[in-house]
Amino acid sequence: MRVLLSLTFATALGGMAAAQQVADAVDPEMAHSGGFEAISAEVAAALGAKAAGQPVAANNWMVAAANPHAVSAGADVLRAGGTAADAMVAVQSVLGLVEPQSSGIGGGAFLVWHDGATGEITTLDGRETAPMAATPQLFQNDAGEPLKFWDAVVGGRSVGVPGTPALMQTAHEKWGTAEWADLFTAAAGLAEDGFAVSPRLAGLVARDADRLGRFPATAEYLLPGGEPIAVGTLLKNPSYANVMRRMAAEGAGVIYRGQIAQDIVSTVRGSEDNPGVLALRDLANYEVKQRPAVCAEFRGHEVCGMGPPSSGALTVGQILGMMNASAPGAPDDIQTWRRIGDASRLAFADRGRYMADSDFVPVPTKGLVDPDYLAQRAEVLNSETALESVAPGEPAWDHAVLWSDDDSIELPSTSHISIVDQYGNALSMTTTIENGFGSRLMSNGFFLNNELTDFSFRSHRNGVPIANRVEPGKRPRSSMSPTIVRKDGAPVLVVGSPGGSRIIGYTTQAIMAHIDWGMDVQQAVAMPHAVNRFGTYDFEEGTAAAEMAPQLEALGFKVNTRALTSGLHAISISAEGLLGGADPRREGIALGE
Ligand code: GLY
Repeated sequence: MRVLLSLTFATALGGMAAAQQVADAVDPEMAHSGGFEAISAEVAAALGAKAAGQPVAANNWMVAAANPHAVSAGADVLRAGGTAADAMVAVQSVLGLVEPQSSGIGGGAFLVWHDGATGEITTLDGRETAPMAATPQLFQNDAGEPLKFWDAVVGGRSVGVPGTPALMQTAHEKWGTAEWADLFTAAAGLAEDGFAVSPRLAGLVARDADRLGRFPATAEYLLPGGEPIAVGTLLKNPSYANVMRRMAAEGAGVIYRGQIAQDIVSTVRGSEDNPGVLALRDLANYEVKQRPAVCAEFRGHEVCGMGPPSSGALTVGQILGMMNASAPGAPDDIQTWRRIGDASRLAFADRGRYMADSDFVPVPTKGLVDPDYLAQRAEVLNSETALESVAPGEPAWDHAVLWSDDDSIELPSTSHISIVDQYGNALSMTTTIENGFGSRLMSNGFFLNNELTDFSFRSHRNGVPIANRVEPGKRPRSSMSPTIVRKDGAPVLVVGSPGGSRIIGYTTQAIMAHIDWGMDVQQAVAMPHAVNRFGTYDFEEGTAAAEMAPQLEALGFKVNTRALTSGLHAISISAEGLLGGADPRREGIALGE
């Protein structure tokens, strides 16, 4: 069965048409450049390439992220000879200012690193951590029932110990060569001098004004005079400039000990209506954890990413591993999308049962991406209609523990940074404060995360514990999927996205678009989305993907058409050089030389 002309999207329609179709259909007010051309000629050129559906080409280095100010800061570091780790510190410190709704030093992050000198691949876990006073009942009422989502998110209860500042410093200590202090100059300067509020930031503030307005520091910053801040307003943040200067001079420890730590704790514990339990000792004890990358096989490539506490690499790896059990299907064949939809459902069933912080619960990490296990799981895909039901499988175990299925709620947010430097290092980092504007609480000019709501609100089901329940000192399960795809030990693709648990589908689709369907990175990130997680197949409204909905419904899927606002940033690496792509649904760009 063929799909009209639709799913050759970027190839058949032409990259420019596909990118423009997505930008126009999905988020028109955010598709325009928002005055970013004024930053520099190279930013204007990068925005032009994105609007034309073209990748940015380079020979030596490349950086792709969600905001031109942040990308420019990273490009300056790379141009001056810095490494990808150095550039990441500059990019993240600016993102926390200009894209405060998505990530920052009040949040957490996962980083995947391919080392150009040794060829090794490893990861850093800078995930937020539950305070030691948190209990499995954190998000339950007195009757033991789960709280309503917004009652849990907004305020201090949901705030975990931030991990991003410590991750920035750890990455720099391991792999940086630039002066640490210099990496904060761009962020401190922009915070002091002000930056023009982007269309996306202004739109999200207006949409969330009621919640943001509940907290005086937040209202003062984003709702001056009681009105949502307007596009183009010059926004200054002297408190953030001060924190950047202190991090530059004294290191990331200033967030974890001393006055700033005390401010964070009193903001969380003093939050009106919904106080949290974060304590100074939780901040003082925070640790970044280096963990082995989790890699899955796909068409002769290793797809490597972040293992537990993220479900990202395991779930992306499972979907690709099941697709690997059959020859690549054409992107304009509806049966290809049937297989993708049901492989995703099967992977999400395993995710809900088995994946959580492996420092607290045994996770069968190897078994879940074992090619034989995935080939056996994929056998049920050899039909022509959707699966009537899906259930978790039985991967090989270290410890036999039968967990109950979980019901964590995850909404789209977050930001992704991809960087390749002139030394052959590749960095893929997904970074978050969870919900847009996190807990809505601000301290010292930055937002505090609501990452603890990535735990399951329920602790048990029918008396059986849920793997991803809240526990003191535990890290909530994530969907973040920072990925480096390698062939014969060399990186060929650096990719990742925001988007809550849809991150997994967005990232998987971009990898398939590049490897199976031969799209360049700009075409791959712009391609209209079709994403399945828990049974309902979501199609990106206003795009060619939505044309598939009736056909997949006829095959037995529940279908839904909606905005699917990924924020993919990707870099491909080949003998011809580097190509960078930035998602047309958001404000980011790729820059390289
Ligand atoms: N909070 C988004 C994630 O970690 O998946």
